[in-house]
Amino acid sequence: MVYPIPPEIERVLVTQEQIEQRVAELAQQINQDYASVERLYIIGILKGAFIFLADLTRHLTIPHAVDFMALSSYGKTTVSGAVRIIMDVREPLEGQHVLIVEDIVDSGHTLNYLTHLINNRKPASLRTCVLVRKQRNGIDVTIDYLGFTIPDVWVVGYGLDYADRFRTLPYVAELKREVYSAK
Ligand code: PRP
Repeated sequence: MVYPIPPEIERVLVTQEQIEQRVAELAQQINQDYASVERLYIIGILKGAFIFLADLTRHLTIPHAVDFMALSSYGKTTVSGAVRIIMDVREPLEGQHVLIVEDIVDSGHTLNYLTHLINNRKPASLRTCVLVRKQRNGIDVTIDYLGFTIPDVWVVGYGLDYADRFRTLPYVAELKREVYSAK
């Protein structure tokens, strides 16, 4: 299906085909890296990760469980980057091989908070898988499996939103500046 491009979109940064190919490559790498592990515990961070997580996990051939966390960040424009858990995972993470799946690393506050939080629960291992990382000065967080590096612009699609819109676009696109600067 040819998906219409909404008028609020400036340009497509990562196409549907590029995403499909990269997601398959990342999954193949994860399959190899965890080939000898009894079970991988995958945590998708809501809401943004739901599409990436669904596509990625359907390429996995290793035993795995899927769970979710939902977070809320206070004042995204402030430097504090404070984060609050709205919904937690269902299992204790001690001794588990954990993979965090995120749609985007922007300032890095969220992933930084999450890795500290989960490490405190004493998992057997912890790695991170992120679809896109913005090219900007932020917290230096480790991304073990990265899809794409993108420019520091407002992006939507493939899970990413603007005011909860555009999450289900099949590509990652730059939003027109006038859409978010008019508010
Ligand atoms: C987005 C994204 C990451 C976070 C990254 O979530 O899904 O969790 O921001 O930004 P950071 O690197 O600056 O911390 P958001 O708070 O927009 O919630 P959502 O996923 O529900 O849209």
